[in-house]
Amino acid sequence: MRGRLIALEGREASGKSTQAEILAQRLGAVLTREPGGTALGERIRSLLLDPEATALDPRAEALLMAADRAQHVTETILPALDTGRHVVTDRYSHSSLAYQGHGRGLPVEEVGRVSDWATGGLSADLVVLVDVPADVARRRRVGSDRFELEDQAFHRRVADGYHQLAAEDPELWRVVDGTGTVEEVAARVWAAVEAHLAR
Ligand code: TYD
Repeated sequence: MRGRLIALEGREASGKSTQAEILAQRLGAVLTREPGGTALGERIRSLLLDPEATALDPRAEALLMAADRAQHVTETILPALDTGRHVVTDRYSHSSLAYQGHGRGLPVEEVGRVSDWATGGLSADLVVLVDVPADVARRRRVGSDRFELEDQAFHRRVADGYHQLAAEDPELWRVVDGTGTVEEVAARVWAAVEAHLAR
């Protein structure tokens, strides 16, 4: 049987990377991430996150995300799913809709088409939104990459975008409260995933 593709999504410092790790271990799944997840992807990632790349055009940004995703699907995700492994990815297509679409202001539907083309139509089986309010995210934020340096208005658009995307497709999305301890959030994520896998 083919494995399931589970994507974790959320704003900066939502804690989803920690949750992706815990979930993958619990499921015995392959853990991967975007941008990154392949050797080429890690190189694309360093271009995308470089705080000195201040003049990066939003379309160029969207296309680099899509290029990363195409390589990720072919090289990492599909081979794992085909051997029956589940895959947990720390960000997938909906990050592009939230960040390049809602955040940067590119038409969300166009970004979606580019992303679908990049993935060859492979969509996640389940998307878990790790949802934290702005003040919690601000307190947790540690890094200073190109996205983390964006202003509050950008991060608000991303967060609102995620809520809108989740509301549009409740079959696909599970919104999990990301506040509380790592263990508390992990239990919520697990409950959502377990219910999905039991279907
Ligand atoms: P990451 O280290 O994954 O950030 P975080 O720890 O907040 O998850 O860095 C990835 C950054 O790339 C993050 O700021 C979101 C951004 N991104 C996009 O803008 N579009 C995309 O399609 C993807 C996959 C990521």
